Amino acid sequence: MTENPRTADTSRILVTGATGNLGREVVDQLVARGARVRCLHRRPAAARPGVESVVGDLTAPEALREALTGVDAVFLIWPLLDATPVRTVLPELIRAAPRVVHLSSSAVDDDRARQTDPIVQVHADVEALLTDAGLRPVVLRCDTLASNVRGWTAQLRAGDVVAGPDIARTPVVDERDVAAAAAAVLLADDDRFGRGPHVLTGPEVLSRADQVAQLGAALGRRLRFEPVPTDLARSRMLADGRPEVLVEALIAAAEHRPESTRTTDCVQRLTGRPPRTFAQWAADHAAEFR
Ligand SMILES: NC(=O)c1ccc[n+]([C@@H]2O[C@H](COP(=O)([O-])OP(=O)(O)OC[C@H]3O[C@@H](n4cnc5c(N)ncnc54)[C@H](OP(=O)(O)O)[C@@H]3O)[C@@H](O)[C@H]2O)c1
Repeated sequence: MTENPRTADTSRILVTGATGNLGREVVDQLVARGARVRCLHRRPAAARPGVESVVGDLTAPEALREALTGVDAVFLIWPLLDATPVRTVLPELIRAAPRVVHLSSSAVDDDRARQTDPIVQVHADVEALLTDAGLRPVVLRCDTLASNVRGWTAQLRAGDVVAGPDIARTPVVDERDVAAAAAAVLLADDDRFGRGPHVLTGPEVLSRADQVAQLGAALGRRLRFEPVPTDLARSRMLADGRPEVLVEALIAAAEHRPESTRTTDCVQRLTGRPPRTFAQWAADHAAEFR
């Protein structure tokens, strides 16, 4: 474990997924607010100067035990397509007994016995496993992150068309707003915000075509989204070497996830600020696509 030079007498917060689009923001925002942060990440080279880190896999109990030692709260993502390994790390969470802030999906529907697709099912299963273990997690169910469009960078550098499987419209949310909400809940050492689920959305319901057009406006280019039929999308993703289980999960999301038109005030309630628009995200990140 590398040491954090901070000496402030504050509680220590573990961030999982700390190298990801969302996790990086959570770390930044917690550090900016003076929190003592520890990151769990898989690659030693991902360590950040001035931030404690533990290198290990989220599914490895010994890594999690080390990472949870002396921790008051944990920001827990579950990036796997299988909820089963949660069972192997639950004893570590129960032993350490931190406040658990769990990042789940706004697509989870409490009225359904089975969720619409495997990705949403994993989120629902992880929520249930944490709750059934008595961990009393605070659940943040977030909508599609704006940062997902970074997956289009190569196509946008090569031309003006983004081709891919289409997916139903949804109120895409800026990962900075989700991170701010997570930071607010992680730093509140009481039950001020309740345990949720807090459904974090952006302010507008957007299709992929809308997002491509708005990115184009930020870049000063006329960009176009070209929906690819799911059979063709599947064979292209497999040919690119993506794991079959991931490809099938993405295709199922494209085929079965329904449109979501529900926007919420959760970002405003947890952060005190309205959620950013996707156009704002695009303007702030345009340089990444040039
Ligand atoms: N993106 C969305 O639209 C969305 C919507 C709802 C919920 N979520 C949830 O939010 C999470 C974060 O989203 P994101 O967009 O920030 O994802 P991301 O950029 O793909 O980051 C995923 C993070 O998980 C880490 N990770 C993956 N497998 C791991 C393992 N076995 N052990 C430890 N760390 C592991 C990755 O670390 P490495 O650097 O080592 O790969 C990375 O830090 C997702 O995993 C998902 O559960 C996302």
